Amino acid sequence: MGIVNKGVSHEELCNLIIPNLPIGFVAIDTNGKIIEFNKEAQELTGYSREETIGRDCKEILKSTLCDANCPLSKDYSQNKIQKEDTYLQGKNGEKIPVTITITPILDSQGRQYGIIELLRDRREQQKLEKHRDILISMFAHDLKAPVAIAGGFVSRLLHGKAGELNDKQRVYLEAVYKEIQRLENYIHTILEILRLEAGKVPLSLEECSLEEVVEDVIDGLSVKASEKNISIRSELPDHVTIIKADSKQLQRAITNLLDNAIKFSPKDSEVHIRVKALDDSVIVEIEDQGPGINEEDLPHVFDPFFKGKKQLKEKDSKQGSGLGLAIVKSIVEAHGGEVWVKNREKGGTKFWFKIPRQGVGNDAQ
Ligand SMILES: Nc1ncnc2c1ncn2[C@@H]1O[C@H](COP(=O)(O)OP(=O)(O)OP(=O)(O)O)[C@@H](O)[C@H]1O
Ligand SMILES: [Mg+2]
Repeated sequence: MGIVNKGVSHEELCNLIIPNLPIGFVAIDTNGKIIEFNKEAQELTGYSREETIGRDCKEILKSTLCDANCPLSKDYSQNKIQKEDTYLQGKNGEKIPVTITITPILDSQGRQYGIIELLRDRREQQKLEKHRDILISMFAHDLKAPVAIAGGFVSRLLHGKAGELNDKQRVYLEAVYKEIQRLENYIHTILEILRLEAGKVPLSLEECSLEEVVEDVIDGLSVKASEKNISIRSELPDHVTIIKADSKQLQRAITNLLDNAIKFSPKDSEVHIRVKALDDSVIVEIEDQGPGINEEDLPHVFDPFFKGKKQLKEKDSKQGSGLGLAIVKSIVEAHGGEVWVKNREKGGTKFWFKIPRQGVGNDAQ
């Protein structure tokens, strides 16, 4: 291979760089038409350059970011980069997991000419994640029995089955028992997340009123909110919104979101919970006036055991396991939906999810 660099203009060099970038590169104009589609993007999707240039990007990429989440409809005045794990559909119909990084094409005056999407193949990573999940679930499963047995024996000791305990022994054993219960909860939650993610927890889909689910969640957390003088403001549609969902799991997901909003909010603040009924789907939004989440933490908040850098001084933060949002994500996805998070411009955090009204998912019935 010859190395040529003398006498090549900057423009010629630029024209060579994009096709040879070791990452899928797609440029899209403001009308959503593809204007560049490099070699790596062609290899990833199976489309040739000729098949894509001038075509609507949503016809080619068929990503979960198309339509309602179209990156072109976003406000790029702050020149923000968006990064998401999502799926594309390849030419042969294959669903391809990718990380898309999106950035606007802006000139020096801030005029937008379109967007650039960088596509990173996640198939290899997904295989590794699957392998990791199998190992974790085997490990958690095998831990279950010995932990339960240890808990049983400690419980017997506490009930005086091996003789009277003195005060010190009781205090120590109670502490051991509490930790064993915590461990049992962890194991249970991890196994549940993995089963939900693998579609192995059949959802009990039934017709339910989303407003009722939301109101039950608010009732359940009202004491916790009032302890910090936080008012929960709900904005619900005028008409009852009937959806087909697993109401218990959905209640759990919304509880986890509202619980976080209350936990991370300052005293005397407001938390808003909003339900939006669309034709085929529903959106639930939860906004708080808390500290927000560090930008670099945002892509990881739904990972199991993740706890952000901005933590609370209060005892609450120590008790969290970092599993609440992982559960939310697996429940929402099991319903065929998606969940998002962003920091609000006015401060605080906004979490929202969207699920189809007609209950796709791993229906048990
Ligand atoms: N509303 C919020 N405001 C600020 N930070 C948040 C908010 N919700 C979540 N986070 C951040 O995301 C992390 C993960 O949240 P998650 O609910 O998974 O765990 P947790 O609340 O710490 O523990 P758990 O829910 O298991 O009791 C939190 O530790 C926190 O750093
Ligand atoms: Mg939580």
